[in-house]
Amino acid sequence: MRKPLVAGNWKMNGSSTSAKTLLDGILTQAESFSSADVALFPPAVYLRQVQEALTNSDIRWGAQNLSQFKHGAYTGEISAPMLNDFGCKYVLIGHSERRCLYAEIGLDQLVLDYIIAEKYSMATQEGITPIICIGESPEEHADGKTEEVIARLLDIVIDQNGVKALSQAVLAYEPVWAIGTGKSATPEWAQEVHSFMRERIKKHDPETAESIQILYGGSVKGDNAAPLFSMPDIDGGLIGGASLDANEFVQICMAAV
Ligand code: PGA
Repeated sequence: MRKPLVAGNWKMNGSSTSAKTLLDGILTQAESFSSADVALFPPAVYLRQVQEALTNSDIRWGAQNLSQFKHGAYTGEISAPMLNDFGCKYVLIGHSERRCLYAEIGLDQLVLDYIIAEKYSMATQEGITPIICIGESPEEHADGKTEEVIARLLDIVIDQNGVKALSQAVLAYEPVWAIGTGKSATPEWAQEVHSFMRERIKKHDPETAESIQILYGGSVKGDNAAPLFSMPDIDGGLIGGASLDANEFVQICMAAV
């Protein structure tokens, strides 16, 4: 039986004052979702604050990105050993906002998938659990290419690291057309894609396929989380906007238990 995980990605939002309010609001209600895994992903500059607030709780935390390199002349990047200094259990990898908006611009999607596989390898070498985000763009969705896009990245990660390495990872299906748009995928659509992902892994290793947590992300809110999380292959969610409001985030966490 897989334990559900709810991950709150704050993206580039907040201040240390609003982070304190949010953390206090979540912590005071933490007992209501104690049977789920919950993790928060603040901007890196607030990792120390989050670490201090959550250290004595069951809530974990992580970073929104990491470098594929261990150290060196990479201005602005953050390495896996640095994330370990802040007690990060998780790191997000391959979020579509990084793919579409940043250094990744102009890179061929295939090259990008290789970089994501390298980041994945760096995180696992350092004992940090990568949450690998995979999802199709609106155009790919319209062209019926969802499975092709997902299979490409999954196969590269498996080829580069071996399927067993996936047992130290979490996957997140994040259709780009659902992120921040208020248009969540239906539970049935998400279930179909999650099942495809699990089957793809199963061909390599049934045990890993059975145990890996696969999250859904894209406009999950307090009022649509429960039907999504009740699907057999959806093991929780990666939450953006709704993770910035303590009560709404707690409602989502409670839908996972
Ligand atoms: P959203 O973002 O919940 O605001 O749609 C999800 C994500 O980007 O992980």
